Amino acid sequence: MSLSAHALSALPQAGLLAEPGRSAHYLEMNFNPGISDAGICRALDRARQALPDVYIALAFGATAWQRLQPAWQPAQLQPFKEMVGENGYTMPATQRDVFFWIHGEDQGEVMNAVLQVHDAMRDVAVTLLDLNGFKNREARDLTGFVDGTANPKGDKRLDAAVIPEGEAGAGGSYVLSQKWRHHLQAFNQLSVHEQEQVIGRTKQDNVELEGDAMPPTSHVSRTDVKIDGVGQKIYRRSTPYGGAEEHGLYFLAFACNLRRISVQLERMLGNSGDGYSDHLMKYSTALTGAYWFMPSQSDLDAVLVQG
Ligand code: HEM
Repeated sequence: MSLSAHALSALPQAGLLAEPGRSAHYLEMNFNPGISDAGICRALDRARQALPDVYIALAFGATAWQRLQPAWQPAQLQPFKEMVGENGYTMPATQRDVFFWIHGEDQGEVMNAVLQVHDAMRDVAVTLLDLNGFKNREARDLTGFVDGTANPKGDKRLDAAVIPEGEAGAGGSYVLSQKWRHHLQAFNQLSVHEQEQVIGRTKQDNVELEGDAMPPTSHVSRTDVKIDGVGQKIYRRSTPYGGAEEHGLYFLAFACNLRRISVQLERMLGNSGDGYSDHLMKYSTALTGAYWFMPSQSDLDAVLVQG
């Protein structure tokens, strides 16, 4: 699909394509019982008010979207369900109602937006994930490997990330968020060569391993997927998070089609029939998991107008 197919009548929320977002904050919330739809929409509308130099993007879980926009929903939208791998690895489900992805270059500006959002939402929702993320030198993950290299660039980001014209939710995205906790002590005990086998790229120079040098269990082998000749590209906007004791990657990805994401997760877990799972899962554990729908700017405006 070309960009012209994405000369969408509905544009994505502005934060989607704004890179790099060196500072980020993630808020996952559940609506409190007994709050009216209008009350929720009023609060969301206040929460998202523009602030300088920060993007406040909003996404919804399936149940919340159905509630606020009963007229239609994206065809594949569903709550994230726990996923279990052949080898015993699991990805837990912690589906919530609403997700705020707040990002910008300056941590102070991002924090001002976090406070605005929290203040607007405090009477209508409970915050269940409140996590600060940051971009590292050369966009390296805390494992030391560059993260995001194979991401689509330029207009190709829209092809990967945005629901195409003609489908319910056009201009919006399917989203996966997962908080992964790294076990860096164990990972750092591996030699650099062994670490590279886990990831599928070289550490220092960030070159993809080739041919026999690329293990089928590497992270890149599990996530670089083609179906019927079509690369199942997604657009990743993850950041590291955490402190001295607990740290990892808040994985955040956008797709035009939810299956692109779920296929990759099944392959990581070892459920794709080839007997291989992702060796990265030996060194990092998924602690949360949720699917969201990030509506286009106009679909979001249409919902919030009911407030
Ligand atoms: C602990 C969590 C994770 C870490 C530390 C991690 C890190 C990385 C790194 C270092 C790369 C190689 C450089 C790049 O192209 O970005 C990569 C590639 C990739 N990862 Fe992850 N990742 C994690 C979780 C996931 C998950 C859950 C998915 C899928 C839903 C995923 C999908 C991808 C994709 C699609 C690529 C590019 C593959 C290619 O086409 O070469 N990652 N990741």
